[in-house]
Amino acid sequence: MAAPVPVATHPHERSGFGWTRADFARVQALIHQRAGISLRDDKHAMVYARLSRRLRETGHASFDGYLRWLQRQGESEWQEFINALTINLTAFFRERHHFGALATLLRQRPGGPWKIWSAAASTGEEPYSIAMTVLQTLGPEARWQLTASDIDTRVLETAAGGVYRASALKGLDGQQLRRFFLRGRGGNQGLARVRPELRECVTFLRVNLADDGWPFGEAFDVVFCRNVMIYFDARTQRRVLERIHRVLKPGGALFVGHAENLGASSDLFAPCGRTVYERV
Ligand SMILES: C[S@@+](CC[C@H](N)C(=O)[O-])C[C@H]1O[C@@H](n2cnc3c(N)ncnc32)[C@H](O)[C@@H]1O
Repeated sequence: MAAPVPVATHPHERSGFGWTRADFARVQALIHQRAGISLRDDKHAMVYARLSRRLRETGHASFDGYLRWLQRQGESEWQEFINALTINLTAFFRERHHFGALATLLRQRPGGPWKIWSAAASTGEEPYSIAMTVLQTLGPEARWQLTASDIDTRVLETAAGGVYRASALKGLDGQQLRRFFLRGRGGNQGLARVRPELRECVTFLRVNLADDGWPFGEAFDVVFCRNVMIYFDARTQRRVLERIHRVLKPGGALFVGHAENLGASSDLFAPCGRTVYERV
C-alpha cells in the first residue's frame, strides 16, 4: 500500500496532526453522507484549519485517530463535525433585488396568509431581512408565518440570539434600524440586538436539506433556498429541488442564489424573475 501523502499545513502549526490526503478524502466522504456537501479538493486547507480546532477540543493527536473515534460517536459529535465544516457567509438584504420581488409578491395578497421558509438561514440575516420586508410591506395586521432553518446548530443559536455587530447592519436604512434594532450601550457598544417584535416573527429549527424527513407538508407560499445548493452535487441538488417542490404550494415562489441555476429542473420550476422561480 502506498504511504499516506502529508498535506502541507500552516508553517506555524507544530504538529500537523498527521494530516494526509487520505484523511481529507475521508472527511469529503463523511460530510457528503451527512450533509450532502461536496467539498472541493481545493478546500483542504480550510478543512484542516476548521477540524484541527475540534481535534484540540476533543484531545486527539491525529486526524486518523479523530476520524476513527468520530465513527463511534453519537449525533452530538456528528453535529460538531458538521458545524465545523459549513460555510455560513451571509448578509442582511443580500441580493437586494429579491426583497423587492418579495414585496411585489406580497402586495398581491395584502392581508395574507403567507407561509415563508428560509431554508439555509445561517446566522439569521436572511430571515430577519424577509421579516422586515413583510412588516414594512403588509403592516402589523396581516397574517403570515416565517420558518428559518439550517443544518448548523451553532449558527441557529446566533440567529435566535439576534445580536449582530453594528457594522453588519450597513445594508439597512435609518428607518429599519430604528424600527427593528436596539443599539448596544456600555459593554455592548458596537453591537445591535433585533427588537423582540422582529425576533418573535421567526421560528428557528434545524433541518438538513439532504435528509428525507422534512417536518413540513405542502405548506409554503415562498421558499428562500439561497447560496446552499452550490455546495451540493447535481444529484443532491435535484433531490432537494424535488422536496422543495413537494412543500411549496402550486404557484409558490422559490428564491435561489445568484450562482444557482435551475435549468436542469425546468419540469419542477419555471423562471419568473431574476433567480426567482415559480413552482410548476
Ligand atoms: C453560504 S450560507 C447562505 C446563507 C443565506 N441563505 C444567504 O444566502 O445569505 C449556506 C448555509 O447553508 C447551510 N447548509 C449547508 N448544508 C446544508 C444542509 N444540508 N441542510 C441545511 N443547511 C445547510 C450552512 O450551514 C450555511 O449556513
